[in-house]
Amino acid sequence: MSTLSYVKNFISDKYIASITPTSDFGVKKVCSKIDFSRCGLVVEYGPGTGVFTKYLLQKMGPDSLLIMIERNANFVTLLRKKVRDPRAVVINDCASNIRDALAEFGKASADYVISGIPFSFLTESMKDRILRNSYAALREGGKFLAYQTFYQSNNHLKAHLDRIFPFVRVEYEMLNLPPLRIYEARK
Ligand SMILES: C[S@@+](CC[C@H](N)C(=O)[O-])C[C@H]1O[C@@H](n2cnc3c(N)ncnc32)[C@H](O)[C@@H]1O
Repeated sequence: MSTLSYVKNFISDKYIASITPTSDFGVKKVCSKIDFSRCGLVVEYGPGTGVFTKYLLQKMGPDSLLIMIERNANFVTLLRKKVRDPRAVVINDCASNIRDALAEFGKASADYVISGIPFSFLTESMKDRILRNSYAALREGGKFLAYQTFYQSNNHLKAHLDRIFPFVRVEYEMLNLPPLRIYEARK
């Protein structure tokens, strides 16, 4: 059901960018960068149909918060119906407004930002705005974790992240269709 809804929206919204949701292998590989014992606030950009959401909520503690920021209104409606957890909220907005989202929930900073948005589809200035606002929203030692399929990106994100974050590492997950590049950037 989720995958069908995902594909239908993919056809009408170019910013969804990947034809299939991230695989379980991809979700686990990205989330392996998270220390769930120090994880009070996670912000997820572009949750889509929620393939990361369920896994994150299983791992996050009882007092934690997951703020999802999704620009596609159909996905927002679907997620609000599907995710019934007091620790999770879905905002229909652009990722660039992360600092407004934090302020709305009275939070000073996030421990992790996970991003599935297709950076290669964005203008340079929007890409820069999202990355700089993400850096500003993270606590010291917090991480920005982004995943992109091979056809969405030629690793252009690494150079951009290197200009903003002091530590950036790139890994791969081949058990995803198409394979994923995973970026781990620490503040
Ligand atoms: C490649 S899909 C990833 C969906 C899901 N997280 C997954 O792993 O299968 C990209 C998602 O990012 C959303 N998106 C694209 N640009 C965005 C932006 N500027 N702010 C928030 N969400 C955005 C799309 O609507 C879509 O849900």
